[in-house]
Amino acid sequence: MDDLKAKYLGEIADAADEATLETIRVAAIGKKGEVSLKMRELGKMTPEERQTAGPALNALKNELTSALAARKAGLADAALDERLRNEWLDVTLPSRPSRQGTLHPISQASEEITAIFAEMGFAVAEGPRIDTDWYNFDALNIPSHHPARAEMDTFYMHRAKGDDRPPHVLRTHTSPVQIRSMEAQGAPIRIICPGGVYRADYDQTHTPMFHQVEGLALDTDISMANLKWVLEEFVKAYFEVDDVELRFRASHFPFTEPSAEVDIRCSWKDGTLKIGEGDDWLEILGSGMVHPKVIAAGGIDPDVYQGFAFGMGIDRVAMLKYGIPDLRAFFDSDLRWLRHYGFVSLDVPTLHGGLSR
Ligand code: DAH
Repeated sequence: MDDLKAKYLGEIADAADEATLETIRVAAIGKKGEVSLKMRELGKMTPEERQTAGPALNALKNELTSALAARKAGLADAALDERLRNEWLDVTLPSRPSRQGTLHPISQASEEITAIFAEMGFAVAEGPRIDTDWYNFDALNIPSHHPARAEMDTFYMHRAKGDDRPPHVLRTHTSPVQIRSMEAQGAPIRIICPGGVYRADYDQTHTPMFHQVEGLALDTDISMANLKWVLEEFVKAYFEVDDVELRFRASHFPFTEPSAEVDIRCSWKDGTLKIGEGDDWLEILGSGMVHPKVIAAGGIDPDVYQGFAFGMGIDRVAMLKYGIPDLRAFFDSDLRWLRHYGFVSLDVPTLHGGLSR
């Protein structure tokens, strides 16, 4: 009996998994197990022998049963411990850096500009980047002999010989969207149009693709004074300064009469630009009162409606605001540059929440 006990307790202690335990259980106390067979032999014993052997066998069976149960529980605990050891997670570790990508400064500037003009009641309009020369030039009072066509370094789309459809160009400015918006919406109208434009030009301040934002406001009572106020409010909001001085310089554009180029007062100190102070002037946009011929080309009666328009270089004002010295860097796709000058994409610019952070 002692040998049986020692043998099975030893086997149970060594069992490495539940399947082994089950084999041991069958061999010891299963129907044909060693202990069970011994119990059957009780009948052949004398009453005296039975009196000691019976309780002893029962005790052995109970002891093995509980040893099996204990070992089974032990194995389950060990398996759980093992999982806890391997599957732990340190919740105090810092999270992964979430700034995988950033918003390009031009996108940021466009969204800031849009937020400011939206507050003043301007809707965003869009037009095609490949447009007909009628929208890009003729409708804007730039007839084919006009020197402005040559000055613009226009990219013309290829046309097959004999194709007599109107020639297409990569738009050289966002001004054609004025015409398309007038056609689509009529008057009164208040829109801005930010977007890419193209000219065959390349140096530190020129790239063949760049960005403009067009503005157009037509109503029965709009004057140059409204243009001045809108632009002053815009510049203060965009450059995040309280005071700014604008200079309206008489100029000429075929699509406005009168026309003005607008400069802002600034200073260059130690290579950094300060808006609103100093003795320098920096040109940021062209503007004027929309020419009656342009209003008519947009399908609106120029004797009833009048208003202003302006065109500003987005890349230019982004460079100024964020201190970016070379325009070409905008389009190099250099990851180090993008990480340095990029913006967190979830910080949506608003006037009340702050434009740039
Ligand atoms: N389209 C002009 C350019 O690309 C800019 C411009 C000037 C737009 C005066 C206007 C404007 O709407 O009124 O140089």
